[in-house]
Amino acid sequence: MYKRQVLLLALAATGGLYAAFAPAGKAQADDTAQSLAIDEGKKLYSVGCASCHGTGGQGTTDGPSLVGVGSAAVDFQVGTGRMPAQQPGAQIPKKKVIYNQAQIDQLAAYVASLGAGPITPKESQVDPAGADVAKGGELFRTNCAQCHNFTGKGGALTDGKYAPNLEGVSPKHIYEAMQTGPQAMPSFPDSTMPEKEKKDIIAYIKTVNGDETASPGGLSLGGLGPVSEGLFGWIFGLGGLIAIAVWVAAHTAKAKKS
Ligand code: HEC
Ligand code: HEC
Repeated sequence: MYKRQVLLLALAATGGLYAAFAPAGKAQADDTAQSLAIDEGKKLYSVGCASCHGTGGQGTTDGPSLVGVGSAAVDFQVGTGRMPAQQPGAQIPKKKVIYNQAQIDQLAAYVASLGAGPITPKESQVDPAGADVAKGGELFRTNCAQCHNFTGKGGALTDGKYAPNLEGVSPKHIYEAMQTGPQAMPSFPDSTMPEKEKKDIIAYIKTVNGDETASPGGLSLGGLGPVSEGLFGWIFGLGGLIAIAVWVAAHTAKAKKS
């Protein structure tokens, strides 16, 4: 009996000790990983970005300050190949992405350490599954269509600027564009456009651009949109009707003969 109590006590004590120390240990490990990422990011930054944005991100005549732009801005700008910029122009274009995602995360960690700003969204925040496509269409027409056109095909703006075509842009980058408002685009922070509305918009953009994974249901016919669906109806629907008409005609002719 006595032995059992001691054993229980010992077990409880180890449990307690574990509870007291384990989370601290884990938090510490997270902190170390985070500061390592910041260090690595700082190195990448010094080589690829400091010439325009300043050694501490304070900005120069060739690039704006990055203090407070947040990890989301870096993830968007570098992840779509806009940064590092090459030459000045009316609008810095998208181009081949030269950093891998791990390096982009490190650059983002470094820039985020300079000042708080919009945070890179998690996968679950940008996943359009289950979002309201019709509501997204409404929001898109009120907030985005004046520049990006009704289905996101894009269009020219003043002074040589343009709103790009949104086809094929990843949900994460759509979300980040709304969070950060790159170049001539206004930003739509969570305070004016909550996460749910951003998801609805992403679902709408993915649906009108025939993204299979966001198809609201039914046969997507390769997701090529109304033209291919119309053609499908035309060929198979009308073809079917003609076949039936021929069959009926042939049979009535036979019936008359006999
Ligand atoms: C040749 C100069 C140049 C280089 C190199 C460069 N940038 Fe930029 N960057 C710019 C300019 C100019 C802008 C402003 C574009 C605009 O908004 O009109 C900008 C904008 C940005 C923004 C958006 C800021 C905001 O207010 O949202 C981020 C983030 C950024 N740069 C990150 C980087 C990172 C990270 C690197 C290195 C990988 C980098 N840049 C390299 C010139 C440069
Ligand atoms: C005033 C015009 C304007 C409005 C309104 C606007 N945008 Fe933009 N958008 C732009 C411009 C200009 C760019 C290009 C910025 C750049 O290249 O840095 C852009 C870029 C984007 C991109 C990046 C595309 C890519 O190829 O990487 C996305 C995504 C986007 N916009 C989505 C939206 C959504 C969603 C809305 C509505 C909530 C919206 N925009 C409203 C002008 C606008």
